[in-house]
Amino acid sequence: MPFARYFERANAHYYARKDPFGRDFTTAPELSQAFGECLGLWSCDLWDLCARPEAALVELGPGRGVLMADALRAAAKIGWRPEVHLVETSPRLRAEQARRVPAAVWHDTVATLPEDRPLIVLANEFFDALPVERWVRTASGWAEQHVGCGADGALALIDLPAPPPPGLPTDAAPGAIVELRPHAERIVGELARRLARQGGAMLIVDYGAEGAIGDTLQAMRGGEPVPLFADPGESDLTAHVDFVPLKRAALDSGCAAFGPIPQGTLLGALGLHERTAALARANPAHAARLQAAALRLTAAQHMGALFKAVAVTGRGWPAPAGFPKP
Ligand SMILES: C[S@@+](CC[C@H](N)C(=O)[O-])C[C@H]1O[C@@H](n2cnc3c(N)ncnc32)[C@H](O)[C@@H]1O
Repeated sequence: MPFARYFERANAHYYARKDPFGRDFTTAPELSQAFGECLGLWSCDLWDLCARPEAALVELGPGRGVLMADALRAAAKIGWRPEVHLVETSPRLRAEQARRVPAAVWHDTVATLPEDRPLIVLANEFFDALPVERWVRTASGWAEQHVGCGADGALALIDLPAPPPPGLPTDAAPGAIVELRPHAERIVGELARRLARQGGAMLIVDYGAEGAIGDTLQAMRGGEPVPLFADPGESDLTAHVDFVPLKRAALDSGCAAFGPIPQGTLLGALGLHERTAALARANPAHAARLQAAALRLTAAQHMGALFKAVAVTGRGWPAPAGFPKP
């Protein structure tokens, strides 16, 4: 099968049954409540600048629901108690989310999100979990990687020559790998068309780069990379996000797009350090943990530079907080 299909099936199996947080990996909202609060206030600011419309707050791939719970707590302090919509395929994680955000409405895909109001959409470490197509340059041209049986009968990557999709470089050296995310581009395009029509904004935070950077695929288990086919569906498959095609999908759909900017820059502008200091003063016993988490989230040598943020706004919506104007 094409590698993207394998990725999709393996991760669907993985997330359907597991709560991997703190075991296989940790995400920003799990490190500090200040992360979700900052993203909640980012959303709230847009809602306020737009004269407080009847907007829904949406999250894609909400994990254990921690980010949304923290965002809602911060929003409530400003007087915003939005209807919450969560796009999540994992039954196991939906149950976790329901414990923290019981009033949410769940969706399998973005297609069923409300059509009658602006949407403010948050997506942290969602797109890296979506399938990548892998293209490899061989001596005779481009080939798409598939999963099949190798000579020893074990699962292996098999390169099958195929006409490449538009945009692959013609001068790539043999062995060069390009990872494409058509599935993610479709989701961004679909949401951006909604934002252009209904109003609203989207904040994407993920690890990756501006432009394709080759072979970034990893299988993670227990916090460590493991061999790709060691135990299909039992490790987290992930690859770095190329923000360029995601931004293009948003712009092509009639939205404005901002970034990518480093996560550390965005969180600094949104007041993560001030919020951490306030939390530390109020909870001296947790001060060291909170300060360490803030450093991990913002410092360039930790998550502050590898993780980046892109914002998308619908027609007539203001520029979002924390981003320089394009
Ligand atoms: C890496 S986790 C990120 C969790 C959360 N955003 C956080 O920051 O803690 C990926 C999330 O996306 C969900 N997910 C993966 N593929 C999905 C898909 N195709 N549709 C909806 N959710 C998906 C997973 O179940 C999980 O909740």
